[in-house]
Amino acid sequence: MTKYLSAKIGPSILNANLAQLYEESQKLLDNGADYLHLDVMDGHFVPNLSFGHPIVKCLRSKIKDAFFETHMMVSNPEQWIEPMADANVNQYTFHVEPVEDVPLICRKIKEAGMKVGVALKPGTPVDVTTDYVDLADMILIMTVEPGFGGQKLMEPMLQKVTWLRENYPELDIEVDGGVGPTTIEACAKAGANMIVAGTAVINSTDQAKVITTLRDTVNCYLGENKSK
Ligand code: DX5
Ligand code: ZN
Repeated sequence: MTKYLSAKIGPSILNANLAQLYEESQKLLDNGADYLHLDVMDGHFVPNLSFGHPIVKCLRSKIKDAFFETHMMVSNPEQWIEPMADANVNQYTFHVEPVEDVPLICRKIKEAGMKVGVALKPGTPVDVTTDYVDLADMILIMTVEPGFGGQKLMEPMLQKVTWLRENYPELDIEVDGGVGPTTIEACAKAGANMIVAGTAVINSTDQAKVITTLRDTVNCYLGENKSK
């Protein structure tokens, strides 16, 4: 069965005013966000702290319907599968770098009722994914070193996206880090269809316009990548 890829824009609320997490999140959804990308950091896997499942659960109690992806920048992703499932998270995206048995974590996430996202730091070669791409719903290619918003996109990372798109034409591929109106074309051309944008959306006075620009650019290239 052919799966038709679509462009999805998932703003990251990391650099929003987190004292107003609900209002900021709802505003993004009202402005056209397809999903929310929630950056969870443990101060160990990355040199920063953000928030965890208690906050995600509170946000879920106020926002019932939106698709929540948690980007788990944590050293022990297995530990938070159940709490995040309990918070009604839709997709659990974890990094392969600290994990010994990636397929096991993928299966546990699925068993807990969530979609599986597999994330790669900039230093991790893309071909490691061949062993478990069948177990993943999505691959996240980090285009910055994870830990902080507002960094510059590392252009060479897009070669990983190109490789994935060539090898897996129907795979959901997400990019995260330094993505905004000035860098979206390169991401879309490489074949990314799920777009995380933090500061480019949060800092904009016209969030709806930025989100539309990102989506339109991806849609423009999706057809082209399909017919390759
Ligand atoms: C970085 C996070 C990103 C970040 C993106 O470690 O994973 O999701 O918030 O922010 P921008 O779009 O500003 O790079
Ligand atoms: Zn992220």
